[in-house]
Amino acid sequence: MTLLEMTRAKRGRAPRRLSGPAARRGGAGTGASGAQARHVPALAQELIELLDPRPGECAIDCTFGDGGHARLVARRLGPAGTLVAIDRDPLAEERFAQFQREVPCSVRFIRSGYAEALELLAREGLQADMAYFDLGMSWMQVDARERGFSYSYDAPLDMRMDPDQELSAVEIVNSWDERRLARLLREYGEERYATQIARGIVRTRRREELRCTQQLVDVIKAAMPVPAQFAGGHPARRTFQALRLAVNDELGQLDAALPAAWDLLREGGRLAAISFHSLEDRRVKRFLADRARGCVCPPELPICVCGRQPEAELLSRRAVAPTPGEVASNPRSKSAHLRAARKLEVEPR
Ligand SMILES: C[S@@+](CC[C@H](N)C(=O)[O-])C[C@H]1O[C@@H](n2cnc3c(N)ncnc32)[C@H](O)[C@@H]1O
Repeated sequence: MTLLEMTRAKRGRAPRRLSGPAARRGGAGTGASGAQARHVPALAQELIELLDPRPGECAIDCTFGDGGHARLVARRLGPAGTLVAIDRDPLAEERFAQFQREVPCSVRFIRSGYAEALELLAREGLQADMAYFDLGMSWMQVDARERGFSYSYDAPLDMRMDPDQELSAVEIVNSWDERRLARLLREYGEERYATQIARGIVRTRRREELRCTQQLVDVIKAAMPVPAQFAGGHPARRTFQALRLAVNDELGQLDAALPAAWDLLREGGRLAAISFHSLEDRRVKRFLADRARGCVCPPELPICVCGRQPEAELLSRRAVAPTPGEVASNPRSKSAHLRAARKLEVEPR
């Protein structure tokens, strides 16, 4: 049993109280503008247990959001510690202004994609004791109706985490050809009706430009058989996920950022990632498993000739999921999966 499994077993399955500002305000914020909404971090205690931040250490929060995880980490780092916060969303930068007044450690914010920010930190020669990702959208983004992340509100088809970037969802749905759209929906949305939805989008836009989320939701529903519209969650969920991933190049960012974050860690440093769908979790799992693999010689060789040593120790045998108590109090945590590893000393050959 790993350390985390032991602590979870001790805690039992009792519902966990919300922590942070949302708890003080009596629950999750949902409003017309993400500026009011607060984010309730998923798997927060589990993340802290695996990262185990200690006084004086340096942490990189690659997805600062509302700073829910960062607050818990910063408290453990204490006045001698340093926390570097990264986020591409200006709303996160606004939240950081408040955060820095509350926490005891030295802090710094970088508004950028995390792949580029980690490159910058490497050029500066930073070495960190931990780096972590809480992937996907913040509640502030989902609940800011005007940003078009949600299929539940009518809003412009936008979905940009960084409003300064050019590509938005409106451009993808109105300019990508049918095959490219279908491939996007299949690969990034794992959407069974990708071909039909792509065809519906292209047909509709011949008549009128698709500008709003509800126009797109109508096209998606019309492209699906009626029973499928009522099975497996909202019919637009997978298409919206695919568009959001493409608009923000989320998987490309993650592929570049995992090795960059790993390289910034000192020996003994910890890397953790919380994912919310299998496309992300698979990448994290593969990355960490690859670092944790030792000798790769064919089994028929009597001795190791590759000399490969594991660079990582996995901190949990399998992905950590939220307890039923957490899911009950924070339903958006339902699909969260946490994986983490510690960087090992590799002896020179
Ligand atoms: C799930 S939220 C993080 C919430 C945060 N852990 C908290 O407790 O408040 C994810 C955040 O990561 C940011 N983000 C997602 N992809 C990013 C990327 N490639 N580069 C920088 N920030 C990114 C989003 O803008 C969003 O604010």
